[in-house]
Amino acid sequence: MKDGSDPAFSRGDGDIGPIHVGIIMDGNGRWAAQRGLPRIEGHRRGVEALRQAVRAAPDFGIRYLTLYSFSTENWTRPPQEVSDLMALLKRFIRNDLAELHSHNVRVKVIGLRDNLDKDIGALLREAEDLTRHNTGLTLVIAFNYGSRQEIAQAARILAEKALAGRITPEDITPTTLAHHLDTAGIPDPDLIIRTSGERRLSNFLMWQAAYAELVFLPIYWPDFDRAALAGAVTDYAHRERRFGGVAAPLAVKTGS
Ligand code: FPP
Repeated sequence: MKDGSDPAFSRGDGDIGPIHVGIIMDGNGRWAAQRGLPRIEGHRRGVEALRQAVRAAPDFGIRYLTLYSFSTENWTRPPQEVSDLMALLKRFIRNDLAELHSHNVRVKVIGLRDNLDKDIGALLREAEDLTRHNTGLTLVIAFNYGSRQEIAQAARILAEKALAGRITPEDITPTTLAHHLDTAGIPDPDLIIRTSGERRLSNFLMWQAAYAELVFLPIYWPDFDRAALAGAVTDYAHRERRFGGVAAPLAVKTGS
């Protein structure tokens, strides 16, 4: 895992690559079905694609990589699949934490922790604690995560602070609300990638993605690799980001 070693994407003055990339890793089940394999096999191969994405990200100048690993809605899947996904997360952390740490990766987990098994909660905490001071890629694992739940939780905390007289309703702004999201301190995603051809956010970083560029890839997640990431980053580099303003040359002309 090199840090910004591809000159085409290295970070520096005038760099046009995304700092924060979020990925909706979709299509594991369909990948498996196409091959007559059980769904769990798609998820297993999905973990391999996840490893490739984490290894490749720094080479494109990416500093934050957020992976949607288990949504608050995924509990509605058959119990066997839910328990398979939990087991995969545990195995991933047990097998890969040392390597992530040795590559200076900082792990951060977003999502609800309260209804997770104790051992999963402990592993997630261990991963965060061990890598807390690392300065390379920040790997954000969105696990038991849902944007609506995250925003509602932030609103609840702010309401409690207002009721306690610690803030006034006027203190509640987009900035203060963002400070109460799980992603506080993490820059908004510049690019969201979704595999499998589906074109929706599915409760992923909905607040944070207000101005993200969206790239939808027609491949299933287990087939995602360095080349697919390179393609998405190149697509992103050709987008014009205006954040609700106007294109830069026009802004200069009108003197605004
Ligand atoms: C979507 O494919 C994928 C998921 C719900 C889980 C993603 C999980 C992994 C890649 C592995 C486990 C995560 C970690 C952090 C080790 P799908 O099952 O919805 O596919 P389908 O739409 O084709 O059925």
